[in-house]
Amino acid sequence: MAGIVIVGAQWGDEGKGKIVDLLAENADLVIRFQGGNNAGHTIVRDDVKWKFHLIPSGILYPGLKCAIGNGVVIDPKVLTGELDDLRAKGIDLSGLRISANAHLIMPYHMLLDHAGEARLGKLQIGTTRRGIGPAYADKAARLGIRVQDILDPKILRQKFETALAEKNRVLELVYGAEPLEIEQLAERMEGYAVRLRPYVADTSLLVERALRAGQSVLLEGAQGTLLDLDHGTYPFVTSSNPTAGAAATGIGIGPTRIDQVIGVAKAYVTRVGEGPFPTEIEGSAQARVRELGAEYGTTTGRERRCGWLDLVALRFAARLNGLTSLALTKLDVLSEFDEVPVCVRYRLPDGSETDEFPAHQSDFHHARPVYEILDGWRDPLDGVEELAALPAQARRYIEYVEAALDLEVSMIGTGAERERVITTRALAGIAGGP
Ligand code: GDP
Ligand code: IMO
Ligand code: MG
Repeated sequence: MAGIVIVGAQWGDEGKGKIVDLLAENADLVIRFQGGNNAGHTIVRDDVKWKFHLIPSGILYPGLKCAIGNGVVIDPKVLTGELDDLRAKGIDLSGLRISANAHLIMPYHMLLDHAGEARLGKLQIGTTRRGIGPAYADKAARLGIRVQDILDPKILRQKFETALAEKNRVLELVYGAEPLEIEQLAERMEGYAVRLRPYVADTSLLVERALRAGQSVLLEGAQGTLLDLDHGTYPFVTSSNPTAGAAATGIGIGPTRIDQVIGVAKAYVTRVGEGPFPTEIEGSAQARVRELGAEYGTTTGRERRCGWLDLVALRFAARLNGLTSLALTKLDVLSEFDEVPVCVRYRLPDGSETDEFPAHQSDFHHARPVYEILDGWRDPLDGVEELAALPAQARRYIEYVEAALDLEVSMIGTGAERERVITTRALAGIAGGP
């Protein structure tokens, strides 16, 4: 079997949770490789809606191993809350493992995230205010607190001494906030340590062993390609790399261990927070897409901005991630429209047109979408279980995307429930099996 990466191909919320849940049926291990509880992944099973922020989307399968890799930033309060919640619902957590090297989100990271956004004012990024950026910044500055640190009282206090020497100065002098006390914080973390200790493991070794034993491992991404710290719409991005290359470092395996990369994209586009968005829909149709697609944030409840499918950005995502196939979700949402525009090129400020993602931010900020108008299908997709049963115009929509990207669409979402998906091949095959 294989190492299969699942990544968001747009600005997040593409339906990664549902796709991972589906593929997990044929997997032996699911591991998250980046992001934190800025993510909100939804799974709908038997009319029950599950929302995960940190726990991998494979957790609902009894006996399946699930892990949180070193590349993830963990808010221990949120993680222990999620564990309690799942346990109360009777979910087996014995297969969960947490990397000892993952960094922790501390209360001061959240304070700094709030304060940073307030300071930016009109220029704010629109973060989830979960402390993600400040936690990754501390990781890079070598001031971070890792999961393994909270397991050792002496080390924990030493690390807090170094970190708080800086954080308290910033909190007091820049933001006029109260300083934090080492002992109080250390005791709080030790409370979490007791709860998390049984799950802490060398997750890099776990994955390597699974792959060597011929097992199938899903490497679950959060956020989306255009929120990538290096390649996304900087500075309106998240502070990690949601692209496939980061799966190797975020887990601790070599890139040669990755066999497939499945991108997840909506049949249209959404974005939460600030930043450029060329295909954002003008007029009342945007609200219509939002209502039909129930486009409200899983984590913050914010309205998601909605746009038509952007093939320029999606081609960029296919390139950056080396996608081997695409899962196109929420096709059902477009059933209400007579015509469906898809963006095939951008018109740049100098009047030229391009079908490649602009390398320069000013070009992207001012890019105007050039649309091809495709016929809508006007038929609900309820009960459609195979490609051949889709309305002809819906099939044409998919073929158009495949041709534009030179990429196979291997899964098509026709509703939120887990069974509402059309697969063009057997699921095991899509996930690298025989
Ligand atoms: P993620 O962050 O990528 O896992 O995506 P979210 O869970 O934040 O947002 C996707 C939303 O779309 C969730 O509410 C899903 O239940 C829902 N969803 C996923 N696939 C489909 C689909 O094919 N059709 C419809 N109508 N909803 C879907
Ligand atoms: P999932 O995994 C959609 C966005 C925020 C903001 C920017 C930076 O559910 O797809 P951050 O808190 O990360 O510093 O915010 O990134 N963002 C997401 N948007 N889905 C997500 O996760 C997101 N995680 C972060 O809205 O614009
Ligand atoms: Mg989400």
